[in-house]
Amino acid sequence: MKQIKWLWSQMKGYRTQYVFLLILLMIPVIMQLQNPIISQMIVDQVILKIPEQKGNMEELIDKLIRLLALMISLMVVRTFVWRFGIIGVERCGQKFLYDFKRQMFHKLQNLDRGFYKRNETGDLMTRLTSDAEMGKHGIVALLRGFMECFTLYMATAIYMFSKNVILTLGLMVFTPIIFVVTYKFSKTARPYYMRLREKLSKMNSNAQENIEANRVIKAFAREDYEEKKFKERNEDFREANITASFVWLRFYPAIEGFSQALPIVVLVVGGIFLMNGKISAGTFLAFNSLCWTLAAPMRNMGMLVNDTQRFMASIDKLMELDAAEPTVKNREGELVVKEKLEGKIEFRDVSVKLEHTDVLEHVNFTIQPGETIALMGPTGSGKTTMINCINRFIDVTGGAVLIDDIDVRDYDIDVLRKNIGIANQDVFLFSDTINRNIAFGNTMLRSNKIERVAKLARADFVWRMQNGFDTMIGERGTGLSGGQKQRLALARAIAINPSVLILDDTTSAVDMNTESEIRDNLLGMSGNATKIIIAQRYFSAMKADRIFILDHGSIAEMGSHKELLRQGGYYQEIYLLQRGVSSLEEDEEDRRNLSDTSEESNNGMGVRVHG
Ligand SMILES: Nc1ncnc2c1ncn2[C@@H]1O[C@H](COP(=O)(O)OP(=O)(O)OP(=O)(O)O)[C@@H](O)[C@H]1O
Ligand SMILES: [Mg+2]
Repeated sequence: MKQIKWLWSQMKGYRTQYVFLLILLMIPVIMQLQNPIISQMIVDQVILKIPEQKGNMEELIDKLIRLLALMISLMVVRTFVWRFGIIGVERCGQKFLYDFKRQMFHKLQNLDRGFYKRNETGDLMTRLTSDAEMGKHGIVALLRGFMECFTLYMATAIYMFSKNVILTLGLMVFTPIIFVVTYKFSKTARPYYMRLREKLSKMNSNAQENIEANRVIKAFAREDYEEKKFKERNEDFREANITASFVWLRFYPAIEGFSQALPIVVLVVGGIFLMNGKISAGTFLAFNSLCWTLAAPMRNMGMLVNDTQRFMASIDKLMELDAAEPTVKNREGELVVKEKLEGKIEFRDVSVKLEHTDVLEHVNFTIQPGETIALMGPTGSGKTTMINCINRFIDVTGGAVLIDDIDVRDYDIDVLRKNIGIANQDVFLFSDTINRNIAFGNTMLRSNKIERVAKLARADFVWRMQNGFDTMIGERGTGLSGGQKQRLALARAIAINPSVLILDDTTSAVDMNTESEIRDNLLGMSGNATKIIIAQRYFSAMKADRIFILDHGSIAEMGSHKELLRQGGYYQEIYLLQRGVSSLEEDEEDRRNLSDTSEESNNGMGVRVHG
């Protein structure tokens, strides 16, 4: 029942209203008894009295009309109360749906990478849609359904007891048996519905991934394979659905059989009582019709219990989401809240373990405010991991990262992230206008500022677009080239006027001329931001104040372009490789020749422009 308790806790603010509505809805339920009861009165007090009246029918007709009028007016009242109650309960259900989705969306904003790695998008979408709908169904239909069954059963039983105890007891012997059967059914059905829920989520995840990967699928002409995969998931879901539904059918004959036995008991036992004069003909008729109001709750119970199993499986998923906590979060106690950070960064013996692998090991360095650092190193050496520790995308497992001499874990996360502009390696743009994409971190940015940061990021292509900055871009930036997406991501990072600017391979898809212009723009940028630029090409790094070379999670080299060239490690190797020479002497000679012969093909920084 923890699921019901959870649902109840979610209904804060309208619980009294809901309980009131359920109580109100008991009225039309009890009023279902009115027709058999009034019919009984008509038989006993009007029809059977006809022979006694000896032709003087006026009084009887008058009584009949009054009883019929009562029947009709009660029916009208019942319909209106029912309508009012149902509308109210539906509103409660909708309120739950709205509040829950809003809360969960808020929660999803704060959950971290670990959570998203464990939970597939398709599964999360299923929780926000069909599972949430199931929660609403619980409020609107299930709880109400149980209340209705209970009320109708009790009201019928009370009325019947008032008329004849033995006949009522004869009818009620079946109740415990039906309870046992439904209980057994609920235990059996539960795992089937949990399985069904898993299959639904798998199918949705598959569809969602397929839609996202449509370009890869087309590129590899794997549509058939994907269709087959989806067909399997769809079949699994169908099978699980059929199996779950059939469990109910296994129990159905027993429940149906017992509830069908009630009219027979009334005919046999009631018939004998009627003949012996223990009950009136009207009571016999009423019992006969009321068999239905006694059998219906029993039969409905079975269906409700079936529905409840599906509901429980969904609520479990909602509870899981509700209980999810990010691992990276604000710590307890007072946090440092600063409008603007200076931008001094220190890694103090930082180690990071990701899934039992040491990704960073004992990294130590200090970067002064306003300094520009280029971070290089082989693929997989831990560059992205390193910068992810600065804005707490991940938390270090050893040592500490400090900004302005304060541990990043002591800052309010929002303060920290609002001061760090980052352009990630895998660029993500929203399906929105270019304007709003650039101003994503600072929606107050005026259009002249947007244009200024776009210029700094060398996103000149925007001016050539028909709708300029109002151009809508497709989901994830479709419709733009790789380099164009990178430049918008860069503009978005600069737009928040950060104290620390982090660029993770942000110019890898940009041509070399543009890249060198961007680099110069960044170096000349006002505001004195500390910059960490991850790069693969030596010439993106050469103008930095210092270059860090990361190798297998440790800093292997550190120094200026000239110092590292002399050191003769990874940096020199990369430099020679990218220059296309075998030694520094050859490079020197090459450059001398180049400046003698062709000034145009040289971009003025001793860098040969390829292609
Ligand atoms: N979430 C994770 N769980 C486990 N291992 C991870 C995770 N993220 C990264 N790694 C591992 O950590 C190592 C460093 O990854 P990282 O992304 O930091 O490398 P990188 O230097 O940025 O590489 P690249 O130049 O290719 O971007 C890799 O071996 C990678 O497999
Ligand atoms: Mg990386």
